[in-house]
Amino acid sequence: MKITDLNNVAVIGAGDMGHGIAELCALNGYNVYLKDIGQKFLDRAKNRIRESLNILARKGKLKDDNIETVLGRIIPTLDYKQALENCGLVIEAVPEIMSLKKSVFIELDFNLPKSAVIATNTSNMSITELASQIKRSSQVIGMHFFNPVILMKAIEIIRGNDTSNETMKFAEDFAYSLHKLPIPVLKDVPGFIVNRVLAPSSVLLNKIIEKKIATSNQIDANFRKIGQPMGPFELMDYVGLDIYKHGADYFAQKIDPEFKSPKWVNDLINEGKLGKKTDYGIYDWSSGRPTINLEDTTEKVDSKDLLLVQVNEAAKLIENGVVEYPGDIDLAIQNATGNVSGIFWLLKNDREYLINRLNFIADEMGVEIFRPIEFLKEMTIPSARKALKARKKKRKEQENQKNNK
Ligand code: CAA
Repeated sequence: MKITDLNNVAVIGAGDMGHGIAELCALNGYNVYLKDIGQKFLDRAKNRIRESLNILARKGKLKDDNIETVLGRIIPTLDYKQALENCGLVIEAVPEIMSLKKSVFIELDFNLPKSAVIATNTSNMSITELASQIKRSSQVIGMHFFNPVILMKAIEIIRGNDTSNETMKFAEDFAYSLHKLPIPVLKDVPGFIVNRVLAPSSVLLNKIIEKKIATSNQIDANFRKIGQPMGPFELMDYVGLDIYKHGADYFAQKIDPEFKSPKWVNDLINEGKLGKKTDYGIYDWSSGRPTINLEDTTEKVDSKDLLLVQVNEAAKLIENGVVEYPGDIDLAIQNATGNVSGIFWLLKNDREYLINRLNFIADEMGVEIFRPIEFLKEMTIPSARKALKARKKKRKEQENQKNNK
């Protein structure tokens, strides 16, 4: 499949991510078949897309299109055959349940043209395992978008064990056609880059709450104070506590039990408090974005500790050859979460102190995944700027090669 031949895209699942992906594709000129299992989900998605397009139109960001033209490119459907029979690419965005995704994959394979590519927007789960369901495993890839899809620039492009180079290139070209920044993930590891790097800081946050060292408001206020667009607890609510739990429990199963979702989160979920989508979670969202008392900060928690455990996890990914350029990790974090500084600036500080601090946090909290890895002692400081430069150069060379053919 070549990007120049692609006109029709299908998106399976019209929830938080699916509706955003459909909007993005339609904004960039693709016809989009948006499939879900109930009319009410499709109607809700279309309303959300209209609201978002209204914002973009007010800001003059619709270029030559108007709202109706973009909406007209989105064809809602409840039927797999209609959604898929004319598509060159499908993006699966159904809930994070492996058995559900596997059954969807079988439908996709059955109804799509033979040459079509299957992308999954899974946040954490194995692309290889999903691809093993079907024959066209070389045409299966991870395309992990970030919430809100319209605003977040990064898309992780994840290679499964069987994914072909052609499929990788196609997915990267597609991401560029959406005016996004593709970040290749060369190995199919749980959580890929961004969610994997963020995961140990969630474990640390949970320990801080469990040990009653600080409150969620205090920690979020600390983060807002250092310029983050959202504190970590507000972000958990924003993404959905159910989504968070799926990820944490998947990591616990695949990497280390220490990642497991804590009781206080499970209790909120059992009470039906999933965050923004249900109006209540850690915070009250019933009147819009929750009010964080920015004066209620704490000195008992050093925000840098939360980044430090991320640096250690990032070092594991670099050592394991998961990224093309080490700086891709900061590039992904900056463009997926709005953390403009990234995390590797911490390595500019006294390295011995950082290593000792990680050992201290591991001991204090009784959590081994925080223990610094040997590689952290010797690794050079990754540069997002260099990674971006290398990526742009590679892209230019590919474009030149194409033009010379
Ligand atoms: N469509 C179009 N425009 C939108 C929009 C939408 N759906 N939503 C918001 N906007 C616009 C607003 O109109 C506003 O524009 P102006 O600045 O011109 O007024 C701008 O975006 C910012 O929005 P808000 O003022 O409402 O709120 P904000 O400044 O707090 O930004 C945010 C909101 C962009 C979400 C910001 O808080 C942020 O970057 N948060 C972090 C999000 C993040 O980390 N995402 C990754 C989550 S992890 C994930 O997704 C992975 C996974 O697997 C689940």
